[in-house]
Formats: sequence, structure tokens, C-alpha cells
Amino acid sequence: MSRAIAVAGTDTGIGKTVFAAGLAALLGAHYWKPIQSGLESETDSQAVARLGGLRGDRILPEAYRLKTPASPHQAAAIDGIRIEVDALEIPDLPGRRLVIEGSGGLMVPLDGRTLYVDVFAKWQIPLVLCARTTLGTINHSLLSVEALRSRGIDLLGVAFIGESNPESERSICEIGHARRLGRLPPLSPLASATLRTAFASSFDPADFAPK
Ligand SMILES: Nc1ncnc2c1ncn2[C@@H]1O[C@H](COP(=O)(O)OP(=O)(O)OP(=O)(O)O)[C@@H](O)[C@H]1O
Ligand SMILES: [Mg+2]
Repeated sequence: MSRAIAVAGTDTGIGKTVFAAGLAALLGAHYWKPIQSGLESETDSQAVARLGGLRGDRILPEAYRLKTPASPHQAAAIDGIRIEVDALEIPDLPGRRLVIEGSGGLMVPLDGRTLYVDVFAKWQIPLVLCARTTLGTINHSLLSVEALRSRGIDLLGVAFIGESNPESERSICEIGHARRLGRLPPLSPLASATLRTAFASSFDPADFAPK
């Protein structure tokens, strides 16, 4: 039974952290960002604690905290660190659900040869693909779905983020044979209370139940 869920995206900056905060709050889950690049502004873990209303003990420490805001392999190189991909394992949390947020899009390199998507494949955990709804999303989303399928990753479904775009959302889910998990609308203000309410009306916890 898998109690961990990966949250990945079609690109960087599309709302994975906001989605992960909402999901962790909805499921009463812990949160883990294995690799954080960029420490100057609020980290993803800090944003999830704030937006999800998660107590500190539900946020697991990052395995890598890289100073430079760049792709993990580049940030690591600049910081003089090597990401030991083979040693990157999911923390053992008996009886707990865990939301794991990737970095950037699926095919970001972690070292000279390993992509983030390969780590998700190794972990063999179900994955939610976050996708935006704006122009260009069909291409990015279908390419991402193909990358997941070719590695045998269990795609729970697609979580859309942004204004409603029924045509694009339908095309992605039909052509990609993927479940539409829901859509998180743009929130203003974006805060713990508004996220919790929007998440509860946009997503069904049953879709994320352990198998
Ligand atoms: N539903 C939403 N409503 C309003 N603002 C949002 C929403 N989702 C994301 N944002 C904003 O968009 C920006 C990017 O979101 P977020 O940090 O969640 O992206 P990300 O995919 O996690 O990025 P990264 O690849 O850096 O981890 C943030 O400023 C966030 O506050
Ligand atoms: Mg993020």
C-alpha cells in the first residue's frame, strides 16, 4: 500500500507548492520537498506550512537545501554539492500519508544522468500531474503524460491550476487517458483559509486514497 503521493508539474512555477499545501491539508498528510533550490525567498516547505496550515512537525526537512535558485543539478554544481540520487529515499513514516513535491518539470536533471522523473519511477509511488490551463498546456501536459507512462509511473490524474479552460482540460484527459482530478482556480487572496475551502470543493479525497 502506497502512502506517499508525488506532486509533479508540467513546468516550474505552475502551482505545485500551492496544490501540495492544499492536498496535505485535505489528507492530513506530511509534506516533503526532497530538493530545494533557492533559499533567499520563502522556501516551498515554508509556503506549505503557511498555506496548508501545517504544524512544523508535519514538514519533513529537505534532503538537499541548495542556495542557488536554478535547476537542481546546476544549483548543486554552483554550491559545490553532488546530489546522491541513489541515496535519495522516501522517509519512513509508519501510518502517515506523505505529499512529496518535485522540482520544476518532470525532466529536470538531478545530476549528469538522472532526471527527476526517474527518481519518481524508482520510488514507485502514485503521482499527481499539476498542469496549468493557459495556452500551451496541451503540449506540455501530453508530453509529461507520455514521459510518465513510458516509465510505468502510476498517474493518479491531472490537477489543473488556473482559470477554467474546459476544451484544453478535456483534450488532455481524453488524449492522455488520464483522470481529471479537478481544477484549483486562481485565489485572491491566496491564504490558508481560501485554499482549504477551494481545495475541498475542487478535489475529492477519495481520488487520493491509498491503493
Ligand atoms: N491557485 C492559485 N491562486 C493564486 N496564486 C497561485 C495559485 N497557484 C499558484 N499561485 C502562485 O503562483 C506562483 C507559483 O506557484 P508555486 O510556487 O506553487 O509553483 P511551483 O510549481 O511549486 O514552482 P516551483 O517549480 O518553483 O516549485 C506563486 O507565487 C503562487 O503563490
Ligand atoms: Mg514549488
